[in-house]
Amino acid sequence: MIRLENIKKTYPGNAQHAINALSMSVNEGEFCTFVGPSGCGKTTTLRMINQLDVPDSGEVYIQGQALSGADIIQVRRKIGFVMQSPALFPHRTVAENIATVPRLLGWDKHAISARIDELVALMSLDPMVLKRYPHQLSGGQQSRVSIARALAADPPILLMDEPFAAIDPVVRDKLQGDMLELQSRLHKTIILVTHDINEAIRLGDRIAIFQQGGRLAQFDTPDNILAHPASDFVRDFIGPEPNLKRLGMMRVSDLPRHDVLLLDQDEKPLAGEYSLLSQPYALVLDEESRPLYWLDNGHLVPVRIAEEHQSLRQVYSDLLDVPLGVLVRVTMQGQYAGTIDSRLLSDALNHHQESSHHD
Ligand SMILES: Nc1ncnc2c1ncn2[C@@H]1O[C@H](COP(=O)(O)OP(=O)(O)O)[C@@H](O)[C@H]1O
Ligand SMILES: [Mg+2]
Repeated sequence: MIRLENIKKTYPGNAQHAINALSMSVNEGEFCTFVGPSGCGKTTTLRMINQLDVPDSGEVYIQGQALSGADIIQVRRKIGFVMQSPALFPHRTVAENIATVPRLLGWDKHAISARIDELVALMSLDPMVLKRYPHQLSGGQQSRVSIARALAADPPILLMDEPFAAIDPVVRDKLQGDMLELQSRLHKTIILVTHDINEAIRLGDRIAIFQQGGRLAQFDTPDNILAHPASDFVRDFIGPEPNLKRLGMMRVSDLPRHDVLLLDQDEKPLAGEYSLLSQPYALVLDEESRPLYWLDNGHLVPVRIAEEHQSLRQVYSDLLDVPLGVLVRVTMQGQYAGTIDSRLLSDALNHHQESSHHD
């Protein structure tokens, strides 16, 4: 969808390359994050894709079409751009800001106002903000309006330059979650620039890590980068405890089922469970298959549960102080669905690693 081929760019008076021999492609429908220290060429790369600037050498392709010699206006129509903040026009209302591109494209009034309503709903904005000016909005609202404006003419590509950088952690967390939900519905091809590795990991299907001098240090899925950092630079950049970050991306539902010996309320083994009789402890279920308590050498031990949507990082934390070192996995209805111990988590990390090796 977007392909960069051996892009180089140096600015006059700046000895270092802004971008150096950059080659990469972003697939259709992919959410790609660019991350790296300040000054390593992330913004410059977005500007090359959007034709705000041209490379010294190399070529950018969008939907297979080389940008050198292409009609800039045609190219830009395919791209929604969220600039590094403050990005909104200060003297235009929110509604006018959102309508910018549709107006340029000559849409009629009714079409524009219908589209504004759609975008307000899509971005979970209060319709009350439409008449306000950007300085009358919170940082989070400004971000939502900027994204609404970029999406106004429904372009297939969305480029965003640090859209959540100036926003407090609680609102940023919400915006990130909403962005993921939006993408699951819209399937745009997205490049989002950030300097926050955790944001890059959370949002990106793949992460491009840039380093000083405009070079690509690694471009891969978050899990592959965390499991196999390509260099000391990447290792330092992703920070401590990469395995905890990997667990944070996996859920209980990603684990294979692991059973234990089950007993009914009379503490008799349930049918088909005799093969597990050698286990030191057993789980007692009620008539609806809901876990009641553990029976450990005649002692009753309370049960702690894990639900299918929980992150394995949370599960790992729970496992550290749970009786017997085992959590009971339950369905949404609270019914027994297997157990989880720390061995299962390390197997998940190792298996993930092996399977990604063979990809
Ligand atoms: N218009 C410009 N003129 C001169 N140097 C520039 C210009 N734009 C960017 N640079 C330089 O190019 C390098 C990359 O900048 P940029 O792409 O903005 O980095 P990032 O977005 O990763 O922080 C930096 O060294 C920056 O100083
Ligand atoms: Mg930048």
